[in-house]
Amino acid sequence: MSLKIQQNRYLRKTESYIQDHFQDEGSGHDWWHIYRVRNVALKLAEIEGGNKFIIEMAALLHDLDDWKLNGESEVSKTKRWLDDLGILISDKNKILEIIGQVSFKGAGVGNKAISIEAKLVQDADRLDAIGAIGIARTFAYGGSKGRLIYHPGIKPEMYDNFEEYKRNTAPSINHFYEKLLLLKNLLNTNSAKKMAEKRHRFMEDFLTQFYAEWRNKM
Ligand code: NI
Repeated sequence: MSLKIQQNRYLRKTESYIQDHFQDEGSGHDWWHIYRVRNVALKLAEIEGGNKFIIEMAALLHDLDDWKLNGESEVSKTKRWLDDLGILISDKNKILEIIGQVSFKGAGVGNKAISIEAKLVQDADRLDAIGAIGIARTFAYGGSKGRLIYHPGIKPEMYDNFEEYKRNTAPSINHFYEKLLLLKNLLNTNSAKKMAEKRHRFMEDFLTQFYAEWRNKM
């Protein structure tokens, strides 16, 4: 069997596993988030390059072991899936490395994407966290954790410590200042930066409107 056909099988199998796994996810990390990240990452790869098989596999699997969804799970589902699939060890290691680098862990906590593949998956994941979709996902996530939409007395905090960022229970609006409005400057590639401009402006407009309504200024 040619490598291309083999890789295509791995992709389709992984896609249907992930689709199944994230079917009823209610915190904004559902299958359609994965679907969008995969498509945007592949679109970025058209311009920026990179190994498309690795990019698509990493995009499909990037949230399977996410700390936001599983807590600190001991056994990596991703690793187990890749072992069962039987893909090349070198490919498996590349995919796991990318996934380890993708996740946002707080405004002051560095995590650098090294390879072009990691940069593109991280950019695609971050683009899906901003703009109209980012806004929708933020409130879906907050709702799933029982958080308030907004509290005028609770100010945003810049977390430089992953543990504190993880434990915070702040209202959803704070998340714009703690993460979403920072993402535009954390993107790796020029193509992603371009895509982020309109999405970023849309969030700023949303916040302006939100406070105006809150203060009865509309
Ligand atoms: Ni994600």
